[in-house]
Amino acid sequence: MSVAVETKALTLPDIVARKGKDRIVCLTAYTTPVAQLVDRHCDVVLVGDSVGMVLHGLPSTLSVTLDMMIMHGKAVRRGLERAMMVVDMPFGSYEGSREQAFRNAARLMAETGCAAVKLEGGETMAETIRFLTARGIPVMAHVGLTPQSVNVFGGYKVQGRGGDADRIFRDAIAVAEAGAFAVVLEKVTEPLARRITEEVTIPTIGIGASAACDGQILVVDDILGKFTGFRPKFVKRYAELGSEAETAIAAYAADVREGRFPAAEHVFDDTHKAGDIA
Ligand code: KIV
Repeated sequence: MSVAVETKALTLPDIVARKGKDRIVCLTAYTTPVAQLVDRHCDVVLVGDSVGMVLHGLPSTLSVTLDMMIMHGKAVRRGLERAMMVVDMPFGSYEGSREQAFRNAARLMAETGCAAVKLEGGETMAETIRFLTARGIPVMAHVGLTPQSVNVFGGYKVQGRGGDADRIFRDAIAVAEAGAFAVVLEKVTEPLARRITEEVTIPTIGIGASAACDGQILVVDDILGKFTGFRPKFVKRYAELGSEAETAIAAYAADVREGRFPAAEHVFDDTHKAGDIA
């Protein structure tokens, strides 16, 4: 597939300048090989705390640790040349105080080489966002459905229906005024996401939100169809790698059981051949 993307490394001002103009393409990545795949096609790569559910089999993002984010952040950094990298601050690493948030965000930036961090919360996190940005830590905010608060919401429910809409609108305004350079709008109603995008001065990045957002993000494993079970409505699957992988694994298992693998071409004879290292 041919792609027409510039190869210079994207910076935060490049992303902010897209507001209301060119759409911002974002995906998650957690490993070096996937980072290499998405780098040419995406503007922002997020090392999301969704890594806990996607790669570690955790039931939610709540038990993801700072060390896990650092390990995956380092791996993704090694795979990127062009896209701007953002790393999620995990639950419990920033809510305690502005100082705690600074200490942990600084660790994420210093140890992973990310260009910015993302944290969840609106009005209540505005002071923390102001504190971090004033000290050289760019922040991507995240409002609407904030998965780290799943126990408060009582599930991964659509946000912004009824009276909640004004609260979420105020959250988006508050994080923009506090200095966030972009805001993720997750699982909020389409009219609300459109209204926020029109009103805030920073780029909005939608996930289950609206095509009117300045950019879109999804979990990379979701668009690749790596999971065979749960399918969120807001995910478009561009491949079915999960079922393809299972077919391949079943074929390997059958080959081993029935003695078809390894075949003659997969084994070594006893003569030395120059350059034969595979
Ligand atoms: O953790 C994550 O992957 C996210 C998204 C916005 C997809 O926060």
